[in-house]
Amino acid sequence: MSLLTRRRLLRDAALSATAAGAARAGLAGAAVAGTAASTTALVAGCDADPDEAPHGSLRFPPGFRWGAATSAYQIEGAAKEDGRGASVWDTFSHTPGRTRNGDTGDVAADHYHRYAEDLDLMRDLGLGSYRFSISWSRIQADGSGRPNQRGLDFYRRLVDGLHERDIAPMATLFHWDLPQALQDAGGWENRDTAERFAEYADIVFRGLGDQVPVWLTINEPKTVVQNGYIWGHHAPGQRDPEAAYLVAHHLQLAHGLAVQALRATGAKTRIGPALNLHPCYPAEDTAEATTATRLYDGYENRLYLDSILKGAYPEDVLADLGPDSRMVRGIRDGDLKIISSPVDLVAVQYYTPIYVTAEGDTVSKWPTSEASWQQIYPEGMYDILTRVTRDYGPVPLTITENGLPCPDTLTADGTVDDAGRIDFLRDHFAAAHRAVSDGVPLESYHVWSLLDNFEWAEGYDQRWGLVYVDYPTQRRVLKRSAHWYRTVIRDNGL
Ligand code: FCB
Repeated sequence: MSLLTRRRLLRDAALSATAAGAARAGLAGAAVAGTAASTTALVAGCDADPDEAPHGSLRFPPGFRWGAATSAYQIEGAAKEDGRGASVWDTFSHTPGRTRNGDTGDVAADHYHRYAEDLDLMRDLGLGSYRFSISWSRIQADGSGRPNQRGLDFYRRLVDGLHERDIAPMATLFHWDLPQALQDAGGWENRDTAERFAEYADIVFRGLGDQVPVWLTINEPKTVVQNGYIWGHHAPGQRDPEAAYLVAHHLQLAHGLAVQALRATGAKTRIGPALNLHPCYPAEDTAEATTATRLYDGYENRLYLDSILKGAYPEDVLADLGPDSRMVRGIRDGDLKIISSPVDLVAVQYYTPIYVTAEGDTVSKWPTSEASWQQIYPEGMYDILTRVTRDYGPVPLTITENGLPCPDTLTADGTVDDAGRIDFLRDHFAAAHRAVSDGVPLESYHVWSLLDNFEWAEGYDQRWGLVYVDYPTQRRVLKRSAHWYRTVIRDNGL
């Protein structure tokens, strides 16, 4: 195992379990360098006073779709209803010490029961697209075998409800909630899981047919690799980099097999991966930092982009992992051909940049949000979008996640003033607009998230929603950002 991989493992393993999400982008545990990061800056972004007056000058192209995103385990609840089986996140969140306050997704935002109300909220906001995920263990309780009709029916009702409200559904097949039975059989370390995934995908494609115009295969494979298998802050909670990169390969194999499964149904709908991409910059102006950044970028971005869009893993990453690594040994003839099955679009999730030192460590240069792994740097949105277009050609892009956690509170008069979120979104929308003006074929933008929800190891502590969820009553309240977003959508711009 390479020096870089080992250093990352050791550094991050030193973090406490409750630093959880903190390790997200490999930023936690790193020394805070640069100027701006301070405790005040941590939440200052959330208190900012936005200039809400429409600029009127940043219009997006006609037909551009504005949306919001969620995922199944984070919002649905109803963990044991209608034949749903357990997923790795049920197991993980119910294991003492794994999540903040011991929070679980058992109830979450109770969306499984309140989806009709949530659909009405989406209509009120004027959303043109809604990105959600399907829970594999609702469709196949144990991850294989006969489909559970009640699970399929739930998503059918959701999709029908979206169409009735003129909102385009965008469905992710896998947002980290692997059926526990498959984990027991080796999870993503087991190549067979990729085959099971293709079978599940086929069931869902046939069940929901052409009603879903855009499918996304796997949400952020990199987060499963890093958080699930290197740092252990996410399910399944392992700390094994050798296993991690084999998992990276199998996740991508599963992606490719699902793309092929969709084509095999003859469906006319579109499909692509959902990748969290981090623009990587040298932290210092030295040749060593530039070299280290190049390799870091390989692990963060090219390991997923090159394989899917160019049909080859990046040579520098393969060399760094070494020929005896489990990943390299696990690649079989023909795998890259499957992985690079042509996609119709690439979904980009942008939250943070990464700054890399000569030693291959990461440092912060900008204020971080409540999520300490997130540096607020809108320019990174422009950089990553233009880079994908420059390096991989004019493949259509959609932003499927971008957002900010704020310490939102519901006031006595029933409002939530999240001015900082407006600031954040406005700056990121403007950066995306600039990318579009410079020729990036970006077709839609989904804010993370529609609702406050179960933020994985951070439980319910971090609120990322446009809509506030009062968990004891499950009441929904539009935050100030939601009202503002409605005007952005109406005007198709800022
Ligand atoms: C992304 C995840 C999403 C949510 C946001 C904050 O990495 O895909 O589920 O946790 O971060």
